[in-house]
Amino acid sequence: MFHATIAGTGRAVPEKVLTNADLTKMVETSDEWITSRTGIRERRMAGPDDILSDFCVRAAIPALAEAGIEPGDLDTIILATCTPDHPIPGAAPVVQQKLGARRAAAFDLNAACSGWLYGLHVADGLIQSGKAKNILLLGAEFLTRFTDYTDRGTCVLFGDGAGATALKATKSDHGVLSTSIHSDGEGSTFISMPGGGSSFPPNRPESRDKGLYIQMKGGETFKVAIRSMVDVCKEVLAESGFTTADVDWFLPHQANERILTATAERLEIPPERCVNNIARYGNTSAASIPIALDEYAREGRLKRGDLILITAFGGGLTWGAALVRW
Ligand code: UT7
Repeated sequence: MFHATIAGTGRAVPEKVLTNADLTKMVETSDEWITSRTGIRERRMAGPDDILSDFCVRAAIPALAEAGIEPGDLDTIILATCTPDHPIPGAAPVVQQKLGARRAAAFDLNAACSGWLYGLHVADGLIQSGKAKNILLLGAEFLTRFTDYTDRGTCVLFGDGAGATALKATKSDHGVLSTSIHSDGEGSTFISMPGGGSSFPPNRPESRDKGLYIQMKGGETFKVAIRSMVDVCKEVLAESGFTTADVDWFLPHQANERILTATAERLEIPPERCVNNIARYGNTSAASIPIALDEYAREGRLKRGDLILITAFGGGLTWGAALVRW
């Protein structure tokens, strides 16, 4: 039976670097607080003329080249994002047009920070069912466009960027071995941006009163994130007959270094096997996993045959995990 394999990766991040020192001039915070509580030292910030779909295209080009997939051979484009260019149309068809991927069905997927992981689950299912062979899976966010720079509890966390993964159908031992995704709407207010949708549309004054910014109940999110990611990681390992001792790389969504460390510790995975680039990018939501994959792949740290345990948690609430043979 066919399943998906990651045949190419790419990333594109804005040039502008927003450092912790920059943030101390904007809100009452300190480099010491941000570094010790989150592990973040700097993050990228989209410039006024930057467009998310352009960054998706820039990330996709090297991913498709590495995979040997021509844009015209793509049959599906999935763009995981909660910050598309505009509500209508979705950003994925815009990416499709810019790439010249004329045959591809293209759609956005919003599962907040778990978006890329959800996309991998969907893409692997499409390939397993025979409905797709070549899929471009993107995770991209311009979160700083929806960040309230008077709220020190959130504004120090978020960064912008795009990551691309080119997926191919394979029958080999490499690629996606197992995926699992979960949701719990009970926690829908933990991470939210209430305005801009049909509940608080732009033509209602209350939507403008911070409804258009990302809000987060940090403490509540912190606890449930660790517990949920540990559980779902154990689930995909058990399903494939592996244990954490078999895992070469643990790649969690880069939300907070303390969350990465605590999740890895509970899974008994040592820090040297935990992918960690949060210091330079902050929390880029759906983009964090494909950006980290590309970075570690291009630095030669991921070796063919490595077993990679990937997990994410985000607004919704949504969470999931995947086990991938590189
Ligand atoms: O990506 C999707 C999933 N997202 C997450 O998983 C994020 C989960 N949450 C977190 O990462 C953390 O909860 C935060 C980084 C958001 C906050 O860290 P914390 O250790 O939970 O801090 P806190 O919210 O409990 O705040 C502790 C103190 C408070 O002061 P008091 O009330 O103790 O006097 C805050 O007002 O730290 C204060 N504080 C800050 N101080 C300086 C909050 N933000 C800042 C700041 N600079 N930026």
